[in-house]
Amino acid sequence: MSLKGRDIISIRDLKKDEVELILDSAEKMESYARGEKVLKLMEGKILGTLFFEPSTRTRLSFTAAMQRLGGQVMGFSGTSVTSIAKGENLTDTIRTVERYCDIIVIRHPLEGSARLAAEVSSKPVINAGDGANQHPTQTLLDLYTIKKVKGRIKGLNIALLGDLKYARTMRSLACALAMFDADLTLISPRGLEMTSDILSEIENNYGKKPFQTNDIDAGLRKADVIYICRIQKERFEDKYEAEKMQKAFRITPEVLSQCKDEVAILHPLPKVTEIDPRVDEMKCAKYFDQTFYGVPVRMALLALISGVM
Ligand code: CP
Repeated sequence: MSLKGRDIISIRDLKKDEVELILDSAEKMESYARGEKVLKLMEGKILGTLFFEPSTRTRLSFTAAMQRLGGQVMGFSGTSVTSIAKGENLTDTIRTVERYCDIIVIRHPLEGSARLAAEVSSKPVINAGDGANQHPTQTLLDLYTIKKVKGRIKGLNIALLGDLKYARTMRSLACALAMFDADLTLISPRGLEMTSDILSEIENNYGKKPFQTNDIDAGLRKADVIYICRIQKERFEDKYEAEKMQKAFRITPEVLSQCKDEVAILHPLPKVTEIDPRVDEMKCAKYFDQTFYGVPVRMALLALISGVM
């Protein structure tokens, strides 16, 4: 099994044993990711980070990952200072950047853009989020976090809560959790349910039928892990409607008092108002640990794609 030279555009591009290889490799990267030991595995290699949409965690954790591996990073965040502002198209941008670097990471607002970039580029392309479609490296670090926090994924009751229609992290994660034999509870405001293509995929490929509800209290009681995301306001025409939904789907200490004692709360971040700030101080809040795990997971992925691990 080898990931050398592979594009990572969707979590569907990876088989279960390949995901396990990445997670096991990430474990080996942890002390390097914390800066306790030094690695030169990717000395002389350059990562190109092309962020057409805002990002804090994904871009900076890829940067930290490449630097912790001894490599270098170039790229942009926002297009106003690039030739895209002069009208250059995506394919010409990719054909140019691939000549400057060894691996490309791309975030773009259009679904399918990362796939297009991979078709154009002779260098491996990693999708860091394409519109409402996929965010596969977030899914990998989410799986890794659940394993770290709970010791396993199989058999856990995992509640995905929030905007299940537009949040790409939820779509990628639902499929991956089904692959790892978790029991899924899907909780969303009316109108933001998981789309039927993902539900069919989960049922047809993994024989899983998630419990679906619009009732936050009913959905959370049995959960071992609550994975919440914000309502994707930027994908709504009516921003007021988005804010109203967000208020109704909020995690507070009062909501958590009905949950299992050992429940863990994860969130891909950024969070806005969907988690009461008092929850940040509770032992169940694991979302800042989750942001750290992005570094060893992305180190493992970069090293495996480069063939140096
Ligand atoms: N989780 C995530 O994708 O965060 P950023 O948008 O900050 O990269």
